[in-house]
Amino acid sequence: MTADVERPIGMFDSGFGGLTVARAVIDLLPAEDLVYIGDTARYPYGPKPVDEVRRYAREIAQSLVEDFNVKAVVIACNTAAAAAFDDLSRELSLPVLSVVEPGVKSLSLATRNGHVGVIGTVGTIGSGAYQRALAELDADVQLTAAACPGFVEFVELGQTSGDEVMVLAERLLAPVRDAGVDALLLGCTHYPYLSRVISEVMGPDVVLVSSADETAFELRRMLGAAHLRRGHTHTGHHEFYSSGDVAWFADLGRRLLGPELEQAQHWHGTHRHGSN
Ligand code: DGL
Repeated sequence: MTADVERPIGMFDSGFGGLTVARAVIDLLPAEDLVYIGDTARYPYGPKPVDEVRRYAREIAQSLVEDFNVKAVVIACNTAAAAAFDDLSRELSLPVLSVVEPGVKSLSLATRNGHVGVIGTVGTIGSGAYQRALAELDADVQLTAAACPGFVEFVELGQTSGDEVMVLAERLLAPVRDAGVDALLLGCTHYPYLSRVISEVMGPDVVLVSSADETAFELRRMLGAAHLRRGHTHTGHHEFYSSGDVAWFADLGRRLLGPELEQAQHWHGTHRHGSN
């Protein structure tokens, strides 16, 4: 039987975006094994009803626990975290971490004028998860939130600059810019790829906060507190799974994450066939 500390970290996202979080975790915790599932067959999650996203998140988390024997689950997708973090934390008897709380914590530390912003998919912003997470921190800051439908699609097309994306960014970011925020959280895994455009629209005085690094730091703290951190003598082994086209996932994924994504495998979750 594998000792608890030797079990892998489980991570999932609707597709590729969570690879930004995987990169941060691999760099910060090189001794840890990692299993990543990207649900590219049912992607994108952003425009889908919350109940549907919650069902997918539950199914993948259950597979990580039952099929891969993970020691912790990282929800590396803002939309899935907004829909399912509370349920998964309650239902799973292991540490569960999402990108929302670490991002909000670093946002509240980044602001100087007390006005902060968060942008995300329609599902994430509509769920109120960021608004609640900030309220729970009890920080004396005012939040302006805006959904940015269309951003993910531009990133997927590889269009991270140019007039079209700039025009859309000008329109969608107007409410947060006009609110006078001085720190803006990129509350969607894809948005770091648009940071140049976003920064140009928001202006040089606005700090952009991305949750990937903060999530990795919080994961390290959590594993340490639970005595689940692996010793440095081990070199982490990383497995990547996709529910959709595996060749496409491996190809684009390698370009986004790096050489650790040597090969991807097909994910057939335990409960996948029963719930669809
Ligand atoms: N991963 C999603 C998120 O962070 C973006 C992509 C999607 O809509 O599935 O919200």
